[in-house]
Amino acid sequence: MKRLTVPKIRAHKRDGKVEEPLVMLTAYTARQAQLLDAHCDILLVGDSLAQVIYGLPSTIPVTLDMMANHAAAVVRGSYHAVVVVDMPFGSYEASKEQAFESAAYLLKQSGAAAVKLEGGEQMAETVAFLNQRGIPVMGHVGLTPQAVNVLGGYMARGRSDAEADKIVADAKALDEAGAFAIVIEGVVEPIAIEATKAVSCPTIGIGASAQCDGQVLVTEDMLGMFERVPRFVKKYEAIADVIEKTVAQYAEEVRERSFPGPDQTYQPKS
Ligand code: KIV
Ligand code: NA
Repeated sequence: MKRLTVPKIRAHKRDGKVEEPLVMLTAYTARQAQLLDAHCDILLVGDSLAQVIYGLPSTIPVTLDMMANHAAAVVRGSYHAVVVVDMPFGSYEASKEQAFESAAYLLKQSGAAAVKLEGGEQMAETVAFLNQRGIPVMGHVGLTPQAVNVLGGYMARGRSDAEADKIVADAKALDEAGAFAIVIEGVVEPIAIEATKAVSCPTIGIGASAQCDGQVLVTEDMLGMFERVPRFVKKYEAIADVIEKTVAQYAEEVRERSFPGPDQTYQPKS
C-alpha cells in the first residue's frame, strides 16, 4: 500500500462533493498508528495529547518537541495514511515567519506530511505563506481549544448569528488561502453544513455534522478509555473496562503466585 498524499486528500472533494467521507483519527504512538493506519485516510497527531497522554488540563502547555516526538512515532508506525501534526499553542500565532519555522521543524523532525493550526481569517495569510513554501496546512475552525482562555470553555459555537457568520467566513478564508482540508469542531449542525458547502476543500467534522466531508474523533475517546467525554463522542467500545479487568486479574495472579506459570518460566535443560 502506497501512502496517501495531501493532494489526494484535497482532490477527494470534487465539484463541492465527496463520494465517500474521509476517515481521520488521532494517533500519538507507533503501535496505535499501526492499528489505525489501514482504516484511516488521515492520522492526526493532535495536541489533544495534552489531556490524553500527559494529564494536562488544556492544550496550552504543549511544546513543539512533544508534538515532534509523537509525530515521529506515528510516522514510523504507519505507511498508508497521511500524517498531520498539530502546531501547538504559541508556535505559530506571532507571525507567518514564526509559523514557517515551527512547521518546518515539525516536518523535519517527524516526517509528517502536513500541519494543522487553529484559527480562521486571522491565520489565512499564514496558511498561504506556508503552502507556497512547501508546507500543506489543515485548518481548524469553530471550537478551537487553544483559545479556551478567550472563549471561556469548550461549549459549541455558532449559536448566535454573528458567531455563525464568523465561522463560515473563517472557513472560506482558509479555503481561499489554500488549506487542503478544514476541521470544523463543536459547531451547530446548520452552520457546519453551510461552511462545508461554502468551501472547495474537504471539511472534517467533530461535533459538527454527518454532512461534513469527513469525520474525526480522539481515538481514546471513541474506544472508551475515559469515563467522561464530550457529548459528540460515540463510545464504540469500553476499553477502560477491559484494561481494568485484565490488570485486576494480573494483580490477583501475582499475589496468589499463580503467575508466572510453567509456560512463562525457564527451566535448565534436563
Ligand atoms: O487535537 C486534536 O485531537 C484535534 C482534533 C480533535 C481535531 O485537534
Ligand atoms: Na488539536
